[in-house]
Amino acid sequence: MIEILRSTKQFDIFRKNLDKKTIGFVPTLGNLHRGHISLVKESLRNNDITIVSIFVNPKQFGPNEDYEKYPRTLGDDTNKLKELYRSEDLIGTDKQIAIFAPESIDEIYPDNFSVNISLPELSNKLCGLNRPGHFDGVSTVVYSLFSIVRPNKAYFGQKDFQQYLIIKKMIEDMRLDVQIVPMPIKREVDGLAFSSRNQYLSKEERADALILTRTLGEIKNVVKNTIWSEAKPAIDQIINESLKDTRWDYLTYLDSKNLENPVEKTYMLGLFGAFKLGDTRLIDNKLVEIKYA
Ligand code: PAJ
Repeated sequence: MIEILRSTKQFDIFRKNLDKKTIGFVPTLGNLHRGHISLVKESLRNNDITIVSIFVNPKQFGPNEDYEKYPRTLGDDTNKLKELYRSEDLIGTDKQIAIFAPESIDEIYPDNFSVNISLPELSNKLCGLNRPGHFDGVSTVVYSLFSIVRPNKAYFGQKDFQQYLIIKKMIEDMRLDVQIVPMPIKREVDGLAFSSRNQYLSKEERADALILTRTLGEIKNVVKNTIWSEAKPAIDQIINESLKDTRWDYLTYLDSKNLENPVEKTYMLGLFGAFKLGDTRLIDNKLVEIKYA
């Protein structure tokens, strides 16, 4: 069964009746694609109730970003979730999906809402450099959604790796009783990661978008197959060469545990890129184990 809840009040009533059921939560901005659906699938598998929130959160968009034009497609999103429910053979079972899609911004941010949750150390790098305030907006809305939904598990895609680390740290620091589940990146057949922003791309831009994924792949191969003392200068060279193309916002590598520069004990390296195609900015990342011997 699928329910759609359009206000916090409506949601609270629904939530009160869930007794001891386990609750999986998938927060989204909507315009669902196969990346989102993979998170919902995993939640359905492991919980009685799966709650998908759809809320285009104004606090995480900068003044010159795409808040106004971000695709709002609740009807299509609902149909995709209904189709998933059918194709997973869940009709007639106790498993349930609920869509929490607040009808107005006030449902999440009442008039004098004044909280700001900030994790500056993890936020002031990578996407945070070019999108000041973005991650404060994300952590604040996710905290607020956690308080409303009170889930047992929350599913986050590694597509937004920095976001995942920030939410994980917020849960730890605030001792929230939520288990965060990281999910692998879903990609198109040619390797481009699914993103709601892919639909903004022209034909040429769509072709050029592969530079992002392919460059990260090239760097990953070097790290995977070469001991670190040799891999490091080789990937520094690839990065310096690549960055001559001014469409890169950033292309870099960091310790995937804490987004600090890698140290001698760094085990898993994160390769991170943001690439601009016209007005569209896409991000991607890959993880790779460092070889020390
Ligand atoms: P949104 O961009 O809609 O993404 C919702 C969730 O889907 C995130 O956890 C994101 O990492 C995951 N996701 C997106 N593309 C994916 C892909 N190709 N493969 C796997 N997972 C993917 O991220 C947000 O919304 C917002 O910042 C939010 C957390 C909802 C707060 O407003």
